[in-house]
Amino acid sequence: MAAEQLEQFEGEATIEKVASLCRRRGFVFPSSDIYGGLGSSFDFGHYGVLLNDNVKGEWRRSMIQERDDVVALDSAIILHPQVWVASGHVEGFSDPLVDCRTCKLRFRADQLEQAACGKRPSRHPGGYSECDLTEPRAFNMMFETHVGALRDEASVAYLRPETAQGIFVNFKNITSSLRVKPPFGVAQIGKSFRNEITPGNFLFRMREFEQMEMEFFVPPADAAEWHRYWVDQRHSWHVGLGLRRSHLRVRAHAAEELSHYSSATSDIEYLYPIGWQELEGVANRGDYDLRQHSEASGTKLEWIGHEERYVPHVIEPAISVVRSTLAFLCDAYDEEVVAERPRTVLRLHPRLAPVKVAVLPLIGRDGAMTEKARPLYEELRKSISAEYDDTAAIGKRYRRQDEIGTPWAVTIDDQTLADDTVTLRDRDTLAQERIAIQGTKQLLLDRLDSS
Ligand code: GAP
Repeated sequence: MAAEQLEQFEGEATIEKVASLCRRRGFVFPSSDIYGGLGSSFDFGHYGVLLNDNVKGEWRRSMIQERDDVVALDSAIILHPQVWVASGHVEGFSDPLVDCRTCKLRFRADQLEQAACGKRPSRHPGGYSECDLTEPRAFNMMFETHVGALRDEASVAYLRPETAQGIFVNFKNITSSLRVKPPFGVAQIGKSFRNEITPGNFLFRMREFEQMEMEFFVPPADAAEWHRYWVDQRHSWHVGLGLRRSHLRVRAHAAEELSHYSSATSDIEYLYPIGWQELEGVANRGDYDLRQHSEASGTKLEWIGHEERYVPHVIEPAISVVRSTLAFLCDAYDEEVVAERPRTVLRLHPRLAPVKVAVLPLIGRDGAMTEKARPLYEELRKSISAEYDDTAAIGKRYRRQDEIGTPWAVTIDDQTLADDTVTLRDRDTLAQERIAIQGTKQLLLDRLDSS
């Protein structure tokens, strides 16, 4: 790279740069790519799967494993259609939609300022005299399907637009089978589907995405306090896994923004390259859902203790895996010049990194080095996500690992053959230390544990 190109290299993360790295390195591919793609659907490649799994694993760890008061659930995607009538989604889960009769595009009426019209050069919808926008109308975002052999009104069902309802309709099953008592929570990770009008911005708004939701049932008088608690708790989770504090803020919804079920919502917003956007919502759903389902189903969903009986209120932290993954990717993306060469690096938290350690014989064709490297790799991968690479020059292999965010690389070289030591390279500091080959596994496990 020429000197002036190098100077321009150390730039900010943009959605385009992050998307390009994700595609180049096998994290994310446009879905149905060979058919031209399908609006805002993406497929996850090897490293994307591992990264998403780590995000989900960390959420489960903090939500379930490290707590005594939250249990797990995995409910069906297609629920009884009455669930969505009672929940208010059939009536009210809609965005205001406008059509342009000239360019035939559709826009969200409340996001015209951010949208681009179909004419060139593009302006906001309504920006040209030829723009001919319809009045806003409600567009329900649930995907419909049919259950059974007949395709009629009676067989209509919906792909769930949130995982939460599966938790509410299981309230009685859970309280009568597990040792729970308010305050307690039910956590679930699973696919949700929304027919978004204006998807876009890479992974930010998708039509099919995994949600991580937890419904926390509390005595009504304690709801406001628990709402504050969960906003703080979730904010700390993002910071603990590496998001910069300066890239996070909490914003309380104004009354007119609240969802039909919410009495108070605070969004944890992240400064994505496209600006401040919702990363996670923490809602106080009050007793809305349990009351709606009690009335509609005829089954009383309430807490009955020794001397008390009440409908619990619900605090709900809700986030999607992709919005979380995208925030971690954007925050971790870095470009720098090292020894006059450009380096792109994902400074992911080690617990999130898809691969924790790369095992690299310095000279891939050197049989003595590969004979040392292979057994070390076999040993490491039993306890830690590891990768073995003996192709290409060592610098190229390091750069590849930097781009997928691997925090450590172990190199086997001539000295290894003489004294059974290896070099341990740190992704962020680029420091290289000499360590004993036998102690490598324990050292890495300790560093991962303390990271
Ligand atoms: N159960 C409450 C609920 O679903 P929401 O604010 O509509 O509330 C919760 O969604 C979270 O799900 C959001 O904070 C965001 O992280 C994620 N999310 C919502 N729509 C999304 C979409 N189209 N693509 C990706 N993530 C989405």
